[in-house]
Amino acid sequence: MITNKIDHSNTELDLVLDLVHNVYGYNFKEYNRKSVKRRIENLVIKKQLNHISDLIPMILYKDEFINDFLEAISVTVTEMFRDAFVFRYFRKEVIHKLKIFPQLNIWIAGCATGEEAYTVAILLKEEGLLHKSQIYATDFNNNSLKIAKAGRYSIDNIKKASKNYQNSGGKVSFMDYCKVEQNLAIMNNDLKDKILFSNHNLTEDYIFATMNVVLCRNVLIYFNKNLKNQVLELFYKSLDSKCFLVLGDKESIRFSGIENKFSTISESAKIYQKE
Ligand SMILES: C[S@@+](CC[C@H](N)C(=O)[O-])C[C@H]1O[C@@H](n2cnc3c(N)ncnc32)[C@H](O)[C@@H]1O
Repeated sequence: MITNKIDHSNTELDLVLDLVHNVYGYNFKEYNRKSVKRRIENLVIKKQLNHISDLIPMILYKDEFINDFLEAISVTVTEMFRDAFVFRYFRKEVIHKLKIFPQLNIWIAGCATGEEAYTVAILLKEEGLLHKSQIYATDFNNNSLKIAKAGRYSIDNIKKASKNYQNSGGKVSFMDYCKVEQNLAIMNNDLKDKILFSNHNLTEDYIFATMNVVLCRNVLIYFNKNLKNQVLELFYKSLDSKCFLVLGDKESIRFSGIENKFSTISESAKIYQKE
């Protein structure tokens, strides 16, 4: 006998995404659907469930489950001085343009476990700008923010960081910026003191300060065109005129709603300046 098994997985996915949005305010409906679906299916397997809809009671009745859900959907991969040439370029072509401002507000949006925020703090310190800077590093994943605030990283992590740091034009040894304790590298307090890590959801929350630099790297890549435009508009509003937006390797303002409101400093380093 032939059974026509109907695949309800897309309907179930819509139900789960609606629920997460309505109950917790996280809107994944405009994230890259294929990747969200794959990640949720992996969560279903990990939790030893049968269907996507089996997540519904967990979302409704287990408050802490949302953390597992966010963890499952988020891609938190990051490293210090990731894409070293971007920071080399930034040091050479952008830093001197920041020196004219009496005070600097820098926003690292989607900071994951914090490595990018410490990267920027190190760079500003070496260029004599850290004392007049406030770095805001935000993410919507509280587990990641906890790690970021602690600023404690594995030695493997730091080995890669040292290499990237040198490639980015680092001036001393990366080890000058942390101390090693029990196989962990702990970032120095003078860097930590300049970074405010906090929860901010790019798709739901509004801007909170006027920025001189916004770095949002490897985040927009997970959004559809509409959401990308919405978040780029948020950065446009947050940036002061003549200030800078830095995106990730596979991201661009090209073909977006803000394309004509910025000039391109470098398309390969993804650095743009607001008109
Ligand atoms: C791949 S990591 C990028 C980390 C870092 N910017 C880098 O380039 O190495 C993407 C981060 O974006 C965060 N993210 C995704 N959607 C977000 C949203 N709506 N609001 C805030 N953060 C978000 C994730 O939690 C994750 O930590």
